Amino acid sequence: MPTLLLWLSHSKFFRSLASRLGFVRRAVLRFVAGETVDDAIRAIRELNAQGIQTTLAPLGENVENEDDARRATDDYLKVLDAIGSSGVKSHVSLKLTALGLDLGDDFCRENVKRILQKAKAIGSFVRIDMEGSDYTDRTLAIYRSLCPEFDDVGIVIQAYLYRSEADIVALCNTGAKVRLCKGAYKEPPVLAFPKKADVDASYVRLTKMLLSAEARAKGTRGAIATHDPKMIDAAKQYAAERNVPHDEFEFQMLYGIRRELQRQLAAEGYTMRVYVPYGTEWYPYFMRRLAERPANVWFVLSNLLRR
Ligand code: FDA
Repeated sequence: MPTLLLWLSHSKFFRSLASRLGFVRRAVLRFVAGETVDDAIRAIRELNAQGIQTTLAPLGENVENEDDARRATDDYLKVLDAIGSSGVKSHVSLKLTALGLDLGDDFCRENVKRILQKAKAIGSFVRIDMEGSDYTDRTLAIYRSLCPEFDDVGIVIQAYLYRSEADIVALCNTGAKVRLCKGAYKEPPVLAFPKKADVDASYVRLTKMLLSAEARAKGTRGAIATHDPKMIDAAKQYAAERNVPHDEFEFQMLYGIRRELQRQLAAEGYTMRVYVPYGTEWYPYFMRRLAERPANVWFVLSNLLRR
């Protein structure tokens, strides 16, 4: 089932079909904050009121021409303006393929740079999401090329890739801001651990590296992005044993997933940040969420019965 759902996430036919089905659109609202910036700002306000921080993520990936990439960049600038003028405190997350990575690294870097300049002006922070393994090297290279000019930019590392331990070592040496996730794309066993137990073991290993005293002394800040209570408990335990201050790492989860646990961690005094996606291009994001938890397919179908 997960493999089929990940395959369907690339299907233009199913994308068009799903967008026309009312019950699918209703189910999407569980995982996506709405279609407009105003919807997203409203969701952020509600989360902020519960003591939860956010990172706003306009949806979209793999644009096919420069005009679309420029439009996506302009949308980010508008999003940052909306964050600034609304007074909410939020980071933003972006995908390089939405900003033209398939059209050329320099072109994409210039678009990201415009976004970083705007983010800097309003005191926000930009996280570069990590996509499929075809993009890992180029994403890291663009991230590294921007670091000398911008402080408030971070990257994502996926625990399922064998290469990630070496990437974390290098990033910890430069005091990087790293979101650690398990990884959401379909990867072959030559590149990624095929077994969940190995991905989980890698996740705990990399969490400890990010939270270590040596890494933090260099300015590294880890964002532990998972809904898995075992991963969260491992991070909490390591942080408690090593006296890691609460402001030197954070937990992150996706909008609509494990909402009770999000509130609980915030109430315990941890920084809890929720990734708030919004926009009309929700299809691939939504399909990856279904693939992670096929039980969500029943949640979608149950919306068929609701008016
Ligand atoms: P796991 O999949 O083992 O799930 C643990 C438990 O969490 C499940 O048993 C279930 O209870 C709950 N759960 C997980 N997913 C759920 C879902 N969809 N619906 C309902 N419950 C669910 N990936 C990537 O490749 N690049 C990226 O840049 C990012 N960015 C990112 C940001 C943030 C803030 C988060 C939380 C995650 C990402 N991811 C990501 C996605 C990540 O790689 C991964 O696919 C998901 O987080 C699911 O993995 P878990 O760590 O939650 O564990």
